[in-house]
Amino acid sequence: MNKIHFLRAVWNDVILIESDGLYGLIDTGIKEAYELRIRPYFQEIGLERLEFILITHFHRDHYGSLPAILRDYPVGTVYMKGFSGLNSSTSNGRQATDEYNRTESALCADMCEQARNVSNLVMIDESLEHVRLGDFDFRVFGNTNAIREMYEDPASPYKGQIRFGENTNSAALFCRLNGTNIYLGGDANNESLDYPKYDRLNDQYCEAVKALTDGPIDLMKAPHHLCGNLFSEEALAFYRPRYVVATNWTASVYSQFKGNVNMLKAAREDVRLLISDRCGYVFTLGTNGQLSYEEIQKVPEITLEEIEPAADDEAANERFAAELNEFWKLHIRYLIEDGIISSAEDIDYFSGEEYRSVIEAHMKRDENRHHLAWFVREGKRIGACSYCIYDREDGKCFLLDFWVFKPYRGDGCGHHCVTAFFEHTKAQGAAYYELNCSLTDPTRFWKAHGFVENGEDEWGVPLFIRK
Ligand SMILES: [Fe+2]
Repeated sequence: MNKIHFLRAVWNDVILIESDGLYGLIDTGIKEAYELRIRPYFQEIGLERLEFILITHFHRDHYGSLPAILRDYPVGTVYMKGFSGLNSSTSNGRQATDEYNRTESALCADMCEQARNVSNLVMIDESLEHVRLGDFDFRVFGNTNAIREMYEDPASPYKGQIRFGENTNSAALFCRLNGTNIYLGGDANNESLDYPKYDRLNDQYCEAVKALTDGPIDLMKAPHHLCGNLFSEEALAFYRPRYVVATNWTASVYSQFKGNVNMLKAAREDVRLLISDRCGYVFTLGTNGQLSYEEIQKVPEITLEEIEPAADDEAANERFAAELNEFWKLHIRYLIEDGIISSAEDIDYFSGEEYRSVIEAHMKRDENRHHLAWFVREGKRIGACSYCIYDREDGKCFLLDFWVFKPYRGDGCGHHCVTAFFEHTKAQGAAYYELNCSLTDPTRFWKAHGFVENGEDEWGVPLFIRK
């Protein structure tokens, strides 16, 4: 039996290859993924040993769980794409300092040492063209140190320049098995470079794939989380992928990375895009090119439960008042504890009758209604939100408050709530979204879901919009 398991993971890759009871792992996700998902899954399927682990490139969302796996499981071979030490950007896309390059270099050396102690360490370089496991025979692309070569080659226009992130060194893999074509794109990109050997790398890999198959690709792990400059139309016209797994958030794939989604759809109308935020996927490869998948590691569904105003019935009114009371109590606590408001004046305003009675009145009107709602998962309230939909106007949905209760924060809970929020509000007529936000972490959070800056509100707080 041949399978490929894409574990639930967002902005990190954990891909388990299985062939007749043998297992190999391509990338290990962030280090938090180990306890949360990797070990529980290995236990669930009865995995006791890995024949290999392959790290496509030295970014923490790919090497993160390597030490923990090496500690707990026997591993035959570790194929490691060594760190170039010449990064201009970090794995988070921030400016890389000398300090970052030094620390990551030391970490890579340390991990190689650990791998050497308990398994067979093979550095990925030109000599590594194949990685095999049972019936799988993967061809390895991107097996050179492109970053160092362009830095050192006297003929390179990038000689002595630190201008690439480690993704430029990412390996990618291709395999054809029983008539099924599989392409695992690592974090490789298609940057246009004045250095022919590494110019538009993904296009070059596509040329190499063409030599091995007439196409199309049946199963593709989208390169670099489906984000950035990845494909040329020519390459996609050849690949025409049927299933594409993207290690990203459902909510952002359809906004921020729409360009790549549209390109995939243009290349193949019936492409199935599978996002690995709310579940993982295990594909079974038949002996005659049959390919099927099942969802694994499913996140329990999150729904929105609205606080419904009841005008006539006294008991319903009492329930409404009690719900409101509970909402406002948590609301003010969250505004203060999360640092959204701090001045005595703001605290007075948001806990005062004036603010609350306006919202309550707007909850009762027929048009442009205001909504207060709880996020509910497995019968538990895990967060809340406050928003208004201007359905009489252009369908703007203004999000005033959104928070996950402290015990439920982490492991993507906020992101899953956002996805539930979009689904719920679109059904209520929301056409686009706006919010204001001045804190750093929430700003990053909203940007990850496709919000972009759009001026300031009347108090000078930055406004964000998501179309
Ligand atoms: Fe990555």
